[in-house]
Amino acid sequence: MLHVTKHLFCSAFFLVLKLHYWVFFLTTLLIFQAEIDVAVQLLLKLKTDYKHLTGQDYKAGCPPPENVVNQDNGAATDGIDEEDNVDPWNVSTSNAKGVDYDKLIVRFGSSKIETELVDRIEKVTGQKPHRFLRRGIFFSHRDMHQVLDAYEKNKSFYLYTGRGPSSEAMHVGHLIPFIFTKWLQDVFDIPLVIQLTDDEKYLWKDLAIEECHRFAVENAKDIIACGFDVNKTFIFSDFDYMGSSPEFYRNVVKIQKHVTYNQVKGIFGFTDSDCIGKISFPAIQAAPSFSNSFPQIFGGRKDVQCLIPCAIDQDPYFRMTRDVAPRIGYPKPALLHSSFFPALQGAQTKMSASDANSSIFLTDTPKQIKNKINKHAFSGGKDTIEEHRKFGGNPDVDVSFMYLTFFLDDDEQLEKIKQDYSSGALLTGELKKILIETLQPMIAQHQERRKQVTEETVKQFMTPRPLNFKL
Ligand code: TRP
Repeated sequence: MLHVTKHLFCSAFFLVLKLHYWVFFLTTLLIFQAEIDVAVQLLLKLKTDYKHLTGQDYKAGCPPPENVVNQDNGAATDGIDEEDNVDPWNVSTSNAKGVDYDKLIVRFGSSKIETELVDRIEKVTGQKPHRFLRRGIFFSHRDMHQVLDAYEKNKSFYLYTGRGPSSEAMHVGHLIPFIFTKWLQDVFDIPLVIQLTDDEKYLWKDLAIEECHRFAVENAKDIIACGFDVNKTFIFSDFDYMGSSPEFYRNVVKIQKHVTYNQVKGIFGFTDSDCIGKISFPAIQAAPSFSNSFPQIFGGRKDVQCLIPCAIDQDPYFRMTRDVAPRIGYPKPALLHSSFFPALQGAQTKMSASDANSSIFLTDTPKQIKNKINKHAFSGGKDTIEEHRKFGGNPDVDVSFMYLTFFLDDDEQLEKIKQDYSSGALLTGELKKILIETLQPMIAQHQERRKQVTEETVKQFMTPRPLNFKL
């Protein structure tokens, strides 16, 4: 009897053990299955993100291209950036403070200009950093540390920037990259090339070739008025220089051979109905990034590093350039990116020359400047004086304050204005008055310098010739 009970007990024991085993096994299986589901979902999302970012389907074992770009031309689709739209032709956001530049850095895959980099530029040049660096107006870069490493080892570089001459009228926002480039030229003592893309404007706008070329020459006068050193600066119109320089054209064609239609479609959002001029234009904006495009300056050297200061909306061109460079045996250009200069009506969009009321032109009279600011500059102040005194204004959305961060060089004064405006001690009218009094002399001086620029001076700057520098 005892034996039978023992046997039964043992069987029951093993049965329970087996049952436990099965329950354990099945639960593990279920958990495992759930994990697989999560992993599959994640993989699917990664694949969709990959396609969204690179414009190509994911293939196992194939590394993504370096220039990870948004297939939809930077427009929002994934919910992260739904308020910002930034590409070479459009800039807009629904945020009154302007575009979210930190998100843009992540999306474009560039690096933030940290205080450490600003300090380093100060150390290397021995100069106080320009206010555009101190205040984060130039906020993003590619490979700037590498440029400084080389510079410290006595390996110099050259600057390249440009402008699309779409009209005679330039506004204060257009000066930002040039003011900064002039500072870079001075503190590093290096040569500079400035491309005027009159061909680009002919392709994109309803303008005649002659008009675009004339705008290029007129704009060159405003650029020269920023104070560039004629011995270190070459300004060129694409229409003039492309046809006269076999070396430049060879580079254009080399670049064209190494970029597919699919890639430019992904980067710039071109469609089947865009003319072929637009599709091949990016190669023309890329070519000045390579030093052997300018044999008169660099004597055929192809290894001189290029640094491009530009507004962030130009980055697509240079992502493409950086992707091509190593494949055709050239160094990748480094970049410094600026934020946009806001329209008078608010930081939701950048200043545009085609809307007279959104812009302060370099030809405006003191009276026009005053009226435009008083009438159109979006204010972060309160509706009534009482409310303003009580609650204070909001400098983060106030266009007059934003403009002062661009043009008022005195850090302490700027900080005091910010405090006083936020506390309500400074009224909107008073803030606008400070801006008016900052811009009026600045623009008058520009007009004075521009008057000094003769046709002869323009010709000098625009003639291909050797420049004076040490590499
Ligand atoms: N595409 C630019 C524009 O429309 C002009 C440009 C050409 C440019 N090359 C550049 C701007 C290099 C900055 C840097 O304004």
